[in-house]
This record gives sequence, structure tokens and C-alpha cells, in this order.
Amino acid sequence: MARVLTAVLAAVAVSSAFPRTEAVLTAPNALDLRITTNMTSVIPSTLYGYMWEDINHSGDGGLYAELLQNRAFQGVLPGTQNALNAWQPYNGARLSVTDKTSGVTSALPNSLQVQFPKTVFGPIGFENTGYWGIKVQAGWTYNGSFYAKSDTLTGCITASLRSTTGTTFATATIKGISSEWQKFTFQFEPKTSAPDTNNVFHVEVNGPEAAGQTIYFGMFSLCPPTYLGRENGMRIDLAEALASTRPSVWRFPGGNNLEGESWAERWKWNETIGPIENRPGRVGDWGYPNTDGLGLLEYLNWAEDIGAEPILGIWSGTSIGNYSDLPTWPIVPEADLQPYIDDAINEIEFITADANSSEWGALRAKYGRVQPYQLRYIEVGNEDQFQPESYAGYRWKAFTSAIGERFPDLQFIATTYPSTALDPPYMKIDYHQYADLTWFENAAFMFDNYPRNGTQYFVGEYAVTSTNASDYLGTLDTGRLAYPSLAGAAAEAAFMTGMERNSDVVFASAYAPSLQHIRSYSWTPDLITYDAGGIVRSTSYYVQQMFSVNRGTHVLVTTPPSTNDTAPLYWVASHNNETNLVFLKVANTGPDDLVAYLHFDFNVTSLFGTAVQISSPVLSPLTGQFNITNTLEEPENIIPASSSFSIPYPDRYNYTFPATSVTILAFEAAGIGS
Ligand code: AHR
Repeated sequence: MARVLTAVLAAVAVSSAFPRTEAVLTAPNALDLRITTNMTSVIPSTLYGYMWEDINHSGDGGLYAELLQNRAFQGVLPGTQNALNAWQPYNGARLSVTDKTSGVTSALPNSLQVQFPKTVFGPIGFENTGYWGIKVQAGWTYNGSFYAKSDTLTGCITASLRSTTGTTFATATIKGISSEWQKFTFQFEPKTSAPDTNNVFHVEVNGPEAAGQTIYFGMFSLCPPTYLGRENGMRIDLAEALASTRPSVWRFPGGNNLEGESWAERWKWNETIGPIENRPGRVGDWGYPNTDGLGLLEYLNWAEDIGAEPILGIWSGTSIGNYSDLPTWPIVPEADLQPYIDDAINEIEFITADANSSEWGALRAKYGRVQPYQLRYIEVGNEDQFQPESYAGYRWKAFTSAIGERFPDLQFIATTYPSTALDPPYMKIDYHQYADLTWFENAAFMFDNYPRNGTQYFVGEYAVTSTNASDYLGTLDTGRLAYPSLAGAAAEAAFMTGMERNSDVVFASAYAPSLQHIRSYSWTPDLITYDAGGIVRSTSYYVQQMFSVNRGTHVLVTTPPSTNDTAPLYWVASHNNETNLVFLKVANTGPDDLVAYLHFDFNVTSLFGTAVQISSPVLSPLTGQFNITNTLEEPENIIPASSSFSIPYPDRYNYTFPATSVTILAFEAAGIGS
């Protein structure tokens, strides 16, 4: 039996061409939700977006289109088996990673040494297994390259894309190897698609000719077509999926991956720019080396391409190694901080300075981007609530005052708890929350009473991670979600109605983490999961997309959801003053359908509205049904359904919001904002 609510939307300015209906539609158990009509607020253009860092192979092996894993032996120890990750010999070649011969560049000291036995029959060589497979697609052009040298061997090298069972899809022949490093480029244009991703990048030479000899290889690359055709760009399916949610902020480069395990291992912007051969890569914070092929410029271009505003995190003098009770790495003392402040200033100058009058601007132009990037927000550190004494004591002040003096238009975002007093006081603060469903539902109202004193929130990381409040970052056994669930997404949507309703104080938000390679990850749940061949959009993805794409310009004041009823229905209404569309975003987090009677202080001018909704396909409220997820095996358990509905009166209608669902209603209106 559906419960019945009466919800009433109101606009500040009311002008009605229709006779006003006095009656409030009722039902036996109708709940009375009253109107307030006295204010609207502007919805900032930055409200929805993502937090980004290389975690779960989200960059290398994910959004970064490069297909070869461990392509330049970065961040590995020469001579170890681990250094050969993703490489395997073919027909008895001996492989090792060495720094005993000069590398391709000083940034890349490690090379692949390939030794051939004295007696060889047939072709011999090695293979790269990609990021747990390689997608071979007919019609695509794959741009490949590698560096090679040999003191003795001068014959041909054959590179190919082939299946693990020996089917060859494309081949290229490379000639002219000599004792000096040379870069060889080639293209693959497979005529047929492989049936699966069990494919490798295969390199071979003629065995009898090569017997007893050695070749060195360095900096391989194999790149399929990229998003918008950008060189060194993004994997198309993942990029399109993210772009189609129209995110408006892109917080990068982390997260913990900004911080490093130690000072030396922090994300260093100046080692992520220029030719990929000049990028040394780094150990990374999430269990695998980062190539830094996705570097500062790639991120800025990407943000621009998808229309998102960058929120740039700068290293604030502390590393992950400082977090534990027994810190392995200290916080940078005040007296030693200046070089890191200078480094951040150089980074900002590189991003924003004129190419003709600044050395850093000129370097940016040399690397292909003459026009400065737009940059408004600098986030000082990441989660410095874990080191509040030094942050409040000197780090926040040192970074913000020096950078602010040089770039007075920049706005700074603090990363401590809101209760920590900072000097100078923060005006914007990044607040993170990973929690269970109930927390998110309750927090739908956390911003309603936030003081309107000029300070604003950036909800810079958030996600429902668990069904269990006491172990929300625990294991799958204790309730941690493997994938976002329908119930979790509905709880996130409830929270998001609160962010949007209070978007005068919540100026931006960023779901996290964004991406997960199903074959190697350390954090669940994630917005999009994928393997070498395909992707799955989660329930949380669809909520992000629904909220982001259907944006108003102003919040419309509604009866506050919290004060009228304990029914688990959460909503926010907005108006877009360019399209005259009203959006009503509603999350029903409960196990029952809920009917809302809606009426308005303005006139609906369309006879029909449109609804987009995610809800459970299972109608009976069986235990656990709402924990339904989309997976790589079953990617479409929950996908948004669109429909139209009639609006019989210009000022009211009713609507049934299904159990555990997220719905956005849109309809045209007159008399709002006029
Ligand atoms: O999003 C995963 C991690 O959670 C981020 O790196 C960190 O900022 C947070 O603790």
C-alpha cells in the first residue's frame, strides 16, 4: 500500500494566467507538507563533478588510452621479477630489466634486455599482456612505437597484435636497428576484431639470425584511437561515459596519490609534463607504479574538453607515511617549507601565465598549449584533518599567503575539519564522506542549517561504501559494497538533494573514486568498472548523470522535506531560467512506493512532463532486493528509464515514487523568476 504525501512547490514570483486551485489533494493518510515561498538561491555552475587520482588503475590501464602495461619500466627495481610485470618471453628469449646500459633518456634509466640463446629454432621474442588483455577492434588504427638498440643485431623486428592462441590481427615490420637508441614507429590496422581481449602485443625476430645476441628495448607505446583524437589521450568508452554526465568540476591529482608515501614520492607536476620520454613516473600510492603519461597538461586538456572546471590540489608538506601512529615520514618543518611553496607557485604559473612574458608560460607553449588555462581553485593538500596542528600552525598560512600574494584572484580550499580554526580563516573547505546508507540519508539535511557567513563547502569525496555503519570501510564480509547498489545510489541522491537545496553554501561536489579496473583495484565501490574490453556504469553513475544533466539555475523553495514527515522521501526543486524548465529531483530510500501530491504557485505550461528514473525491476519488497547492482557480467540490471506523464491541471498533479528509486521530473513553467 503506497503512502501518500502532499508536496508543494513554490516560486518566489508568482504570476498566474490560470485560475488558482485552492484545494490541496488529499488521501486518507496524506501528510501535510507546507509551502515556503520566500527565497531562491543561484545554483553554482560547479555543483557536480568528480575527484580524480590514479587508484584502481583508473589512469594507467583505465582512462589513459595506452594499452601496454609497464611500458617503460618506471617505478620498478631492475633485475627483479616484478620489474617484468606484464612482459613474457616468447620461444625461450631471456628477459630482464636493467639499468646497466644507458636508458632511452635520463628520466628512463631502465631498459628491457632481451637475450637470445645460442641455438634457436623459429621466431623468438617477447610479449606484453596489456592491462589484463588488449582490445583488438577492426577499423581502429593503433599507433605503436618503441626504442631499440643492439650492438650486433641488424635484422628486422616484427611487431604484431595477436591472440594468446596465435591468431595474428595486425603486423608491422621494423628495420634499421643500430647500436644507438632509435625510436621506431608503426601502425596496426586490424581488419577483424578479436572475439575477446585475450590478446598480446607480440615482438619477434628471426631466431637463427638472432641466436646468441642481445637487443635492448625502451619506452614502448601502443595507443588506439582516443577521445576527441587527442594525442596521448583518453580511452574513448570511459571518456565518453564520464563526459556524458557533464561534470563541471574535476578535482585532481588526488587524494592520497597527491601526497606520496614520502616527500620524495609525492606527485610532482614538473615530472608529468613534456614528452613522455622525459617523465620518470613514480611509485604511486595505490600499489602500482604511475607512468605519469596522464600528466598535468593531459588533465587540464581533459577538463576543458568535458567542460569541467579544474580544482587543483597542491602538495602541502605532508605524506601518507605520516598518517599512522608510528609515522615513517615527518611533516615538512616550517623552516623547510619554502621550496615546496615555490614549486606550487611555479606550477600555477605554468598553468596560467602568459606564454610571451613568463618562462613557465613559454614552457607550456613549447609543450603545445599557448593559451593560459583558466584556474580559480587551489586546494591546499588532501585530508589535512589528519595533521591539524601543523596545518593550522603554519602550512595553510604559508601556502595561502605566498600564493595569494602572487595570484590574488585564486580561491583557496582548506582540507581540515570545518571546526579547525585557520589563520587566515578559510572561505572554502573540502569535506569528505564515505559512509553507510543511513548516514547519507540523514545527512540530506546537514547543510540546511549551515551558517550563511560566507564560508562554503566543497564535498570533495563522497560515496555510500557500505551497508554497515560501524565498518563502512571494511571488507565485503562486513558490508562493504563491491559495486554501488540501487539502495546506495538512492541514499547518495537523498544527500545530493540536500547539497543542491543548499547550493548557496555547497559550491561544488565530487563523487569518488571514479574508476576501477576489475582485475586490479584497492577501493570499492567505484562509479564505473571496466576491463580491457568493456565498461559498466553503476547505479551511482546514473544518479550523478541524472543530477548533473538536469540542472536548474535557481533553487526553488519547497516545503522542507525533513520537517513534514518521517517518510523517506527527499527532494529538491529547481528552475532553469534559460529553458523555463522546472526540475523536481526525488529520492525514495524506503521499501514502499510513495505517492506525492504536488502543487505549485506557478503555472505549468506543458500538458506533459518527462520523468527519468532508476528503480528496482523487482516489485515485491524482498529482503536485499534493493542492494541490486550493475556488474560487468550484468551491466544493465538498473538503467534509467524515461517516460512522460500528464499534468491534468496547470498547478498540481500527483506522482508515485517507487520504492528505493531516484526520479527527476521535468516540466515547463511560466511565472517563475519574472
Ligand atoms: O578516494 C580514496 C581515498 O580516500 C582518497 O585518496 C583519500 O583522499 C581518501 O581518504
